[in-house]
Amino acid sequence: MAKPILEAATVLKQAAPLTHETAHEIQPFGHPIRMPLALSEQTCKDSVENLNQLLADTMTLRDLYKKHHWQVAGPTLYQLHLLFDKHYDEQNELVDKIAERIQLLGGVSVAMSRDVAETTLIPRPPKGREEVPVQISRLLHAHEIVLKEARTMARRAADAGDDGTNDLVVSDVIRRNEFQVWFVAGHVMAMPLVRAE
Ligand SMILES: [Fe+2]
Repeated sequence: MAKPILEAATVLKQAAPLTHETAHEIQPFGHPIRMPLALSEQTCKDSVENLNQLLADTMTLRDLYKKHHWQVAGPTLYQLHLLFDKHYDEQNELVDKIAERIQLLGGVSVAMSRDVAETTLIPRPPKGREEVPVQISRLLHAHEIVLKEARTMARRAADAGDDGTNDLVVSDVIRRNEFQVWFVAGHVMAMPLVRAE
């Protein structure tokens, strides 16, 4: 037997998705919660703050690789197009690892591009296209910013007993960035293409 039309309308209303929901934040940015990690409150707070800086810079470096992947021009377009995208993917993996460590330490990860732009130490590139040597200079400078802060953060985390953060920063961030620098820097060495000089 079909149910009365009034009841059907009520059921449909309940089945419809709720949209435009609003509520207060469950955790404001910059206010870590305590997690049972056998680490002091100050250690977690310092690691979260440092990792958020590293996260903003890693997200910016990642996006710089995608910009250059799209906008690269010249005889090395194809190989750089592929290399830049490979490095983008690798930086994206680092972004996820850093962000999730911030959360597990009880912090809140910086996430949206506007917030990242306010936080990063990497200089803003122009919206337009640039020549390959300029693209590469920007990438190498960004890598050096990341490497410099990462080494300082790794030492601080180790001194504070936060071995997990130290391991992430050394084993993943520093080693991956150093490796990428090798591949990118090789493209701006003035080597003869055909005849030895
Ligand atoms: Fe692509």
